[in-house]
Amino acid sequence: MNSHSTASPANQEIFPGEVFVNTADFDTGIRRLLPKYDEMLDVLASCISSANHRILELGCGTGELSLKVLQRYPSAEIVALDYSPRMLDFARAKIELAGYAARWTGIEMDFGEWANSAFSLLDDRELEKVGIDANFNACISSLAIHHLEDEMKLKLFQRIRKSLNPDGCFWNADPMLAESPAMKDIDRAAREEWAANQGETLAEIRSNVGTSVAYGYSNPDRLATLLAHLEMLAKAGFPTVSVPWKYYGMAVFGGFVN
Ligand SMILES: C[S@@+](CC[C@H](N)C(=O)[O-])C[C@H]1O[C@@H](n2cnc3c(N)ncnc32)[C@H](O)[C@@H]1O
Repeated sequence: MNSHSTASPANQEIFPGEVFVNTADFDTGIRRLLPKYDEMLDVLASCISSANHRILELGCGTGELSLKVLQRYPSAEIVALDYSPRMLDFARAKIELAGYAARWTGIEMDFGEWANSAFSLLDDRELEKVGIDANFNACISSLAIHHLEDEMKLKLFQRIRKSLNPDGCFWNADPMLAESPAMKDIDRAAREEWAANQGETLAEIRSNVGTSVAYGYSNPDRLATLLAHLEMLAKAGFPTVSVPWKYYGMAVFGGFVN
């Protein structure tokens, strides 16, 4: 088993991926912080289809991607994992308010632990007991997997592949490591411009962002390049990989089982 931290963050410290000290700041804050957040999630949602009834979501946060998928596909059912109780509570309340509670199940779990279950930490019967089996039509994730070390990203992609039906697909939206220092500057300038268009600086927008420490299998950002992600997907057994959306340092990428 990989070494991972089990200590709870203290005071203003947050779990990797929670982003804001106050969860109530997430939905507006993430849209100020990241260029084209809604467009990115809408593209991701459009990559699955109405035939993808059973969907596994990793790192659902406050439920913004869940909501878009449930709105778009009336027969979709989502099993959503997140290790943060406060993010899950927020998502659950929002999903209930929207009237989708019967089609959404939130599970408090570290997806790194789930990834390791393919390597016998948890057996399939244990997973079925908590509501995660191996028959999903799609797996989706946004802004979460980049907190894993690359070795764990690969294990997770392998686990996802194993949990998908033959018609299955996997789509992820995440920040990418810039391919060079020059690209890093260009990506950064795009984010500064996004902030400036809202009459703010990136530093001002970041003032209510918390400080994350390693928790579970996640860490503060562990970015990989887009190419490295696509290679990991191919190695994990996705013969078709694709990048339906890219905007500076952010990408939606994924692939099909067949
Ligand atoms: C930035 S939020 C994104 C939430 C949502 N997907 C969105 O796009 O708005 C990332 C979420 O991933 C969760 N997360 C990060 N690492 C995780 C892990 N190892 N296991 C489970 N959840 C994790 C965090 O708790 C957080 O809720």
